[in-house]
Amino acid sequence: MKRVFSGIQPTGNLTIGNYLGALKRFVRMQDEYECFYCIVDLHALTVMPDPATLRQNTLNTAAVYFAAGLDPQKSTTFVQSHVPQHSEMAWLLQCLSYYGELGRMTQFKDKREQIENHKKGQNSITAGLFTYPVLMASDILLYDTEVVPVGEDQRQHVELTRDLANRANQIIQADTFVVPEPFIPKVGGKIMSLRDPSKKMSKSDPLDASRINLLDSADEIMKKIRKSKTDSEGIIKYDPLLKAGVSNLLEIESLFTGISIENLEKDYQDQGYGYLKKRVAETIITALKPLQERYYDLRDSYEIRDYLNQGAERAREVASQTLKRYQERIGLYR
Ligand code: AQP
Repeated sequence: MKRVFSGIQPTGNLTIGNYLGALKRFVRMQDEYECFYCIVDLHALTVMPDPATLRQNTLNTAAVYFAAGLDPQKSTTFVQSHVPQHSEMAWLLQCLSYYGELGRMTQFKDKREQIENHKKGQNSITAGLFTYPVLMASDILLYDTEVVPVGEDQRQHVELTRDLANRANQIIQADTFVVPEPFIPKVGGKIMSLRDPSKKMSKSDPLDASRINLLDSADEIMKKIRKSKTDSEGIIKYDPLLKAGVSNLLEIESLFTGISIENLEKDYQDQGYGYLKKRVAETIITALKPLQERYYDLRDSYEIRDYLNQGAERAREVASQTLKRYQERIGLYR
């Protein structure tokens, strides 16, 4: 079985972007791959979260993982900070990364701009935000990962991971790291903001109306979709460049129902945006209901803590071997 690794940051309520671009696919891959799924709490530290909020978001994200269908018998699911090898490997790989290549990461540039415009100014842009892609590379490489299911926004970080793996293998002249492949869906790799469909939907967007959170109520979902930005043409067709808002809604419906976008366009011939929005909202509400019910059952249960402990134990076994292999090969005295 091929190895899979992926993670989600506990930086807020997970959105349907996180679900369609990542989590839904994590669940589907469990039967065909050996999967390691992580709640990457160390990544969340890069934006200096409030401690109580981070702790709560970590547990909530775990509950959402299991509620969405991750099975602890099939997948190793764990919290990143429970496996200290991630931080250790990150330092080693920082010493292999170039300042210039990290400066080219578009997510760093976007987040820096977002913080400068909306938050506390330049002094709150942490060094961790700059080096975060190296921590992500460490996450992936520690598990000899072959496949990384992520959304489009993470493509550049997986490319950096590949560069670092190849660089390490070349320098120490041995196949120390497996070079992973990104696995990005053709449709759904980038679900867009409901209020500004030129931007991706994001759980940390200050505007709650820009996203559908997985735990939003039916009323909230209906309201947010009804107010989502479209255009004044009144024709329902898929054209992400010229009709980004309508295309985003069609993509969301297609991904939740499995109906092709082509067939949806045929269904919507002669219909208006009001009808489209109502149907898309109803689709999302129905699709999220089972996840939401399981989430509220699981949220406060001890089972979650047990699952995470088991997951961390298994993850440490694998990660410690890879770390040791790399430490020895780069000349650290053991
Ligand atoms: N809009 C999206 N469409 C499709 N996939 C998405 N992902 C995120 N947004 C979308 C995918 O979700 C996974 C987890 O992402 P993350 O939490 O590690 O960080 P992110 O990519 O930066 O996602 P967010 O929601 O925008 O988080 P914040 O606001 O904290 O930065 C990844 O596989 C990602 O591609």
